[in-house]
Amino acid sequence: MKTVADRVALVTGASRGIGPFIAKTLAAQGCTVVGVARNREGLDETVGEITQAGGKAFAVQGDLADLANLPAVLEAVESAAGSPIDFLINNAGVEFYRRYTDYTAQELASVLTLNLHVPLELTRLLLPKLLARGRGHIVSVASLAGKKGVLYNGPYSASKAGVLLWTDALRQEVAGTGVGVSVVVPGYIRDAGMFHGDDVSPPKFLGTSSPQDVADAVVQAIKHDRQEIIVNPGPMRPMLALGQLSPALANRLVDWMGVNRTNAARRRDPK
Ligand SMILES: NC(=O)c1ccc[n+]([C@@H]2O[C@H](COP(=O)([O-])OP(=O)(O)OC[C@H]3O[C@@H](n4cnc5c(N)ncnc54)[C@H](OP(=O)(O)O)[C@@H]3O)[C@@H](O)[C@H]2O)c1
Repeated sequence: MKTVADRVALVTGASRGIGPFIAKTLAAQGCTVVGVARNREGLDETVGEITQAGGKAFAVQGDLADLANLPAVLEAVESAAGSPIDFLINNAGVEFYRRYTDYTAQELASVLTLNLHVPLELTRLLLPKLLARGRGHIVSVASLAGKKGVLYNGPYSASKAGVLLWTDALRQEVAGTGVGVSVVVPGYIRDAGMFHGDDVSPPKFLGTSSPQDVADAVVQAIKHDRQEIIVNPGPMRPMLALGQLSPALANRLVDWMGVNRTNAARRRDPK
């Protein structure tokens, strides 16, 4: 089992939603956490809660979508923590619900950049150092929407499917090096985060999980070097397997469960 205590974790998107839960859970295990996001107040709140609970945390404010700035972000994180990064948690993400023809070029770019290119680029920059030290872990937060394309959210599904397959490939590449690569795959998350913020009921039968469930999955992925953890109360793996056997049946099932209705309620049309 890998140790989490006395390690340094960079958590992207630690200013709101699920990120603060991941940051607090890693810190409670003795990890020094550095949160990165654009909103200073949100980051400071996360850091304050961790510090008050006796943990160690720092904030680095930055726009991750500015890919050219990522080397400087990593430097700032290591300088704040006072030691090299051991764990990279790719959590920051964005989504839009639109008819595909209503997406702007900028929205497409922001989804693909933040959700896919940023994790890949941060890892490209960090991985040589992890490999040289023979330890470390990269955990990315994908989504069930990356396992099955869902209505009005195609670019997000594409970005998360990319994260899933990239993790799959990279994990095989670094096997035996001491560096782990994992992906956590949440379904609908209640109480905090992008779904909670939309104030829409989840589809029947799918159920919801808590942001703490996602944070616990991140820690489990590191400790037990798990390739992929699905965070959802339903029988997801058999349903996904069925979808592989018959995509048409999966479409009918998803519609019957009410995913399309939920996504239609989340759709925002251009003004
Ligand atoms: N909530 C769910 O139901 C759900 C389900 C499946 C998967 N997920 C995944 O879980 C992860 C966390 O989602 P969430 O629900 O917590 O979302 P959220 O509440 O919208 O939070 C998104 C986080 O990403 C940060 N972020 C956005 N744009 C950024 C940028 N350009 N640079 C730096 N940080 C940026 C935000 O901080 P700033 O705005 O301060 O920059 C915020 O901390 C995402 O990858 C999401 O796709 C969520």
